[in-house]
Amino acid sequence: MQSRVVPMEEGKDLSVTSRTNQSRVLPQRLLQLLVLFLILCTAFSVIIIYMIRYFGVHNFVTATLPSFQPCIEEKTSLEHWIKPPSNLIHTMTDKELIWRASFVPRIKKYPFTRVPKIAFMFLTKGPLPLAPIWERFFKGHKGLYSIYIHSLPSFQANFPSSSVFYRRQIPSQVSEWGRMSMCDAERRLIANALLDMSNEWFILLSESCIPLYSFSLIYHYIMKSKYSFMGAFDDPGPHGRGRYNENMEPEVNITQWRKGSQWFEINRKLAMYIVEDTTFYPKFAEFCRPACYVDEHYFPTMLTIQAADLLANRSITWVDWSRGGAHPATFGKTDITEEFLKRVLEGHNCVYNNQPSSVCFLFARKFSPSALEPLSLLAPTFLGF
Ligand SMILES: *[C@@H]1O[C@H](CO)[C@@H](O)[C@H](O)[C@H]1NC(C)=O
Ligand SMILES: *[C@@H]1O[C@H](CO)[C@@H](O)[C@H](O)[C@H]1NC(C)=O
Repeated sequence: MQSRVVPMEEGKDLSVTSRTNQSRVLPQRLLQLLVLFLILCTAFSVIIIYMIRYFGVHNFVTATLPSFQPCIEEKTSLEHWIKPPSNLIHTMTDKELIWRASFVPRIKKYPFTRVPKIAFMFLTKGPLPLAPIWERFFKGHKGLYSIYIHSLPSFQANFPSSSVFYRRQIPSQVSEWGRMSMCDAERRLIANALLDMSNEWFILLSESCIPLYSFSLIYHYIMKSKYSFMGAFDDPGPHGRGRYNENMEPEVNITQWRKGSQWFEINRKLAMYIVEDTTFYPKFAEFCRPACYVDEHYFPTMLTIQAADLLANRSITWVDWSRGGAHPATFGKTDITEEFLKRVLEGHNCVYNNQPSSVCFLFARKFSPSALEPLSLLAPTFLGF
């Protein structure tokens, strides 16, 4: 029995030991494989990291990445928040645009080098017949200005890609002189220009305006000004206080009622007052209708109430009312002489930064398309560009 039992037990033991031997050997092999795998992985990662560091493979990697990324890109760098919109044609309504434009950083110091720009905002019917003058004026000053054009919605601009006006049209709507739609167009221009954080000054111009000095002079005159150039005066006559409507009280008192030219040069702070206004806008929209010409009263009055100490109360756009009538004089080909330009440039006295100055007007209107030729000839000598 024993002899049978022993082998059985031996066999049992044998089978058991061989089984335990087998099950011990297997995990060891697996472990070895795993360790080998881990070593290979680590080595591979190290090689990849070195390749990225030293051979700039990351350029290749990032260049190929976008095709695998989802459609909505993440706004992870500061760059995204400070670069101006690359395309001026957007799909926002006025209400959406103005809300977006009203964003203001509460920390006043910029964490990057900000070169302040002037936004030249052209309020036009369509074409810019004096564009060649402006092209010459802007030449060599890229980065210090930006251009925005509001025209009739039906107008199709066809500026060549080399032009400073190329693709500078903003989504526009029909606007009528003396009506709130005119102020809406101006607010639309300001709001679009506010989307570029670098724009510090906002100048409203028409297609009949010309610059009177070189870009450098105008840039420094405006940038160094302590005050914004908004024509604003208290006219006691029928065309001034006579247009005031008592229903505007208490928001607007007759003593605060101002009149001024539509063509302004204002800084970012005042531009923001204009786009964010929901207090005065409804009053003017309802109670300043022809013969109250709202574009002559809304901004001058509203800014006088909110920021009188920041206003120069004068415009820097020259215009000639001496011929009388409801409209200022328009100058054409035969009017443009050396004597005429001297008259526009010289003999003025005004206050600039609380000091007397003889440089009072930086822009002039109104010039017809026929004035282009003589102006182009005289500009280098008399206007400095
Ligand atoms: C308008 O202003 C004047 C002078 O500042 C003041 O005497 C008058 O009470 C004001 N009127 C109203 C309705 O606030
Ligand atoms: C502009 O006029 C307002 C009053 O309407 C005045 O407070 C302000 O000081 C004037 N600005 C300058 C530069 O004189």
